Amino acid sequence: MTGVSAVILAAGMGKRMKSAIPKVAHSVLGQPMLWHVARTVASAGIPEMVFVLGHGRDLLAGTVARFGGRVAVQELQLGTGDAARAGLSSVSSRAREVVVLCGDAPLLRPATLRALIAARRKAKAAAAVLTGILPDPSGYGRVVRNADGAVARIVEERDADASVRRIPEVNSGAYAFDRAFLARTLPRLTDVNAQRELYLTDLVVQALEEGRIVVPVVAGDPDEVRGINSRRELAEATGILLRAKIGALLDAGVTVVDPARTYIEADVSVGPDTVIEPGAALLGATRIGRGARIRFGCVVENSRVEDGAQLLPYSVMTNARVRKGAVVGPFARLRPEADIGEGAHIGNFVEVKKSRIGKGSKANHLAYIGDSQVGRKVNIGAGTITCNYDGIAKHKTVIGDGVFVGSDTQFIAPVVVGKGALIGAGATITKNVPPYALALSRAEQKNLPDWVARKKPELLAKAGLKVPGRSGGGKTK
Ligand code: UD1
Ligand code: CA
Repeated sequence: MTGVSAVILAAGMGKRMKSAIPKVAHSVLGQPMLWHVARTVASAGIPEMVFVLGHGRDLLAGTVARFGGRVAVQELQLGTGDAARAGLSSVSSRAREVVVLCGDAPLLRPATLRALIAARRKAKAAAAVLTGILPDPSGYGRVVRNADGAVARIVEERDADASVRRIPEVNSGAYAFDRAFLARTLPRLTDVNAQRELYLTDLVVQALEEGRIVVPVVAGDPDEVRGINSRRELAEATGILLRAKIGALLDAGVTVVDPARTYIEADVSVGPDTVIEPGAALLGATRIGRGARIRFGCVVENSRVEDGAQLLPYSVMTNARVRKGAVVGPFARLRPEADIGEGAHIGNFVEVKKSRIGKGSKANHLAYIGDSQVGRKVNIGAGTITCNYDGIAKHKTVIGDGVFVGSDTQFIAPVVVGKGALIGAGATITKNVPPYALALSRAEQKNLPDWVARKKPELLAKAGLKVPGRSGGGKTK
């Protein structure tokens, strides 16, 4: 699609959202509304995009950067015609065709956008406009056609009389323009209408005055033309995109056991033969490999789960990585920069943060591993804690290959344990442990014979135990 540029109108606040942030920054299936429109432009193969921004434009910098777009600032929102003017001034001179899209219509698909461009070319029209036939067209501009089926006018609802309001065909706000036509006619727009704004839709009249036509392209799926103006519409659009996302994964060979009870955001990828069970939520830029299993109730955000790995029920991971064949959970928590090695096991109530766990190592129960480097084939016993924080700074724990850590051990970091060492259960490790050593740190055990019988017989009585050395409930003959 060389010679085509896209201008995305997104400067408005969107009052009907009742929000402190601009409408197009609201998230739809985990990404800003504007991101979806930009992705459609990029997927359609349009090489250049200009974002017309105004309100809260700082919040959209990430989306602009991600798609390598330019920004045209529209300081005052004087209408879609004025926004298109602002955008056109940033379109490169190479572009002979300009697609104008609304930043608040995130359901448009790349194939539809390409069809719109093709329809204008074929008809050698001044413009092509994407329309939709809606059961409830209220709120949208209506498309009035002339006898030969071309567009005669687009009338905003507020400017429409009763007969025009009955027209079910609406303007989607997506157009393909001949650039020269757009540049020539935008300056002619006036604000003689109910909203005292410059309407981009009035270019239809300009085309007819020049003796040119505007071709309508009716979207096969009316959902694609939906604009989002309210939180209700935001929720509806999210639902539509979610069903489409899961549908695409099913088609690509992913098993989603119960699509109606699974949440997968737009930017997530999942490999074939992976099984996703009900209640799972896959968020952000999560990447799941092939043949993995994401079991009931797991929440995975901006994380990587490699081929064949398993997340057992109710595990939560954020900005973390689980390598091939590793098993995590149930009820495990992987925090940012947790990196679980191939075939490793992280069990129930184990929390890992900013730590690399080596291949084949295990921490199966109740542990906290933070700021650590754990080697291969290490066994970490139940109740082990790396004491990484002294109240001021974080310190590192390094555990060599093949170390066996007995249960209920605390590592007071910074500390290094050499390979092959054995840590006796209940240790508080404050000093480095050399390789192959046994480290013990416990007070020696002392037993005081019959102490309980002599000093606390009531405890034994309470438990229904006989007090040794006395017969028959304390009575003597
Ligand atoms: C617009 C169309 C309407 C169409 C509908 C589809 C016009 C006059 N009306 O109406 O025919 O059915 O979209 O959803 O074009 N924007 C700016 N600067 C402005 C005004 C708007 O950037 O000065 C942006 C908004 O941020 C938004 C988009 O343009 O992303 C559409 O604006 P909005 O006010 O939502 O237009 P609608 O009333 O929905
Ligand atoms: Ca709108």
